[in-house]
Amino acid sequence: MTGKVWQSSPAAAAANRRAVKALLRHFSPARRHLIPMLQAVQARLGFIPAEAMLEVAGFSSIPAVEIYEVVTFYNQFRRNPPGRHSVRVCLGTACHMLGGYIALDAWQRRLEIESGETTPDREFDLDRVACVGCCTLAPVSVVDDATVARCDPTRVDGLLLGFEQAANARKPRDAAA
Ligand code: FES
Repeated sequence: MTGKVWQSSPAAAAANRRAVKALLRHFSPARRHLIPMLQAVQARLGFIPAEAMLEVAGFSSIPAVEIYEVVTFYNQFRRNPPGRHSVRVCLGTACHMLGGYIALDAWQRRLEIESGETTPDREFDLDRVACVGCCTLAPVSVVDDATVARCDPTRVDGLLLGFEQAANARKPRDAAA
């Protein structure tokens, strides 16, 4: 779990607030509806930013700190937006024994984020997961929908280089060249 709080840009925060306000019209403000409200916010925004928590707090009259506690307690809730690419590092028993933490450290260092966070450009989000069911390939990372076998730091470098090349290929060519 990360301690870093995602900061939406002012424009994004305003748009998120509007979206959450519209969603909340479908709920009664009763406390028992808090989890469904938060689930609806996450389904709409992909995560639950601070501004959404404040909107829910205002609507339900539940203190914002309690809403923050609920969001941080349940794994189903994300406090960071999903990235364009998702990286899941397996830390199940087999992967743990065969270098899962080394792979996680490599991803964290290269992406300059911790597990549970999203890069500021929203290209990558990073999470640790339990066994993904292919222990003979340990240590495993799952990148988007692809299982990466024996994922060591060199493999991490290669994957990120591939993403960088793909991003460069998408950039429009310099017209002045
Ligand atoms: S422990 Fe990682 S795939 Fe099973």
